[in-house]
Amino acid sequence: MKFFIDTANIDQIREANDLGILDGVTTNPSLMAKEGIVGEEAVLNHYKAICEIVDGDVSAEVISTDFEGMIAEGEKLAALHHNIVVKIPMIKDGIKAISYFTGKGIRTNCTLVFSAGQAILAAKAGATYLSPFIGRIDDMNWDGIELIKSIAEIYAVQGYETEILAASIRNPLHIVKSAEFGADVVTCPLSAILGLLKHPLTDIGLAQFLADHKKANG
Ligand code: E4P
Repeated sequence: MKFFIDTANIDQIREANDLGILDGVTTNPSLMAKEGIVGEEAVLNHYKAICEIVDGDVSAEVISTDFEGMIAEGEKLAALHHNIVVKIPMIKDGIKAISYFTGKGIRTNCTLVFSAGQAILAAKAGATYLSPFIGRIDDMNWDGIELIKSIAEIYAVQGYETEILAASIRNPLHIVKSAEFGADVVTCPLSAILGLLKHPLTDIGLAQFLADHKKANG
């Protein structure tokens, strides 16, 4: 399973990349706004900066909601760097745009996915990645991981090549369960990635080893 970081924050991207386990980055318009990246030029430059740090796929999201707008934006984004993946919302014109980009050899990430039916449509259109939002489903008192499981089963039965990119990850358990139920990629906040490190017995065990070493060696 690939690990992407879900942020536009350069320091956090560097920190995750320095761990040596990072395979890519996802962003969205909210994450860009949170970092104060405003205006087309600043946004395009920010994507270029991210691509210079991480040697892996970087999802850059369109803000248009009509076919022509998505094509114009997507082509501009894809031309920035060979690692850019055009992120397109799961709407009717979005599916049309994904089909268009598939035909042109431009890679896509279909975002805002909340059902297995949407997942089938995106795979039929040839999306490179599919982003089911598991945390937002959990927020609605449903089970986001069940959706990952269902999509993984459907894709395996049908032989779809679209990669399942579990998004809207809130905690380390979402990462573990996504791995267990067949996600190809998880995109996570840095806190969830670092949360995987934590176990009290590791801390207790290490403290004991170091104390024993000190007692024996002075
Ligand atoms: C990433 O591709 C998604 O845009 C992101 O994971 C959404 O996360 P959120 O539900 O925490 O905003």
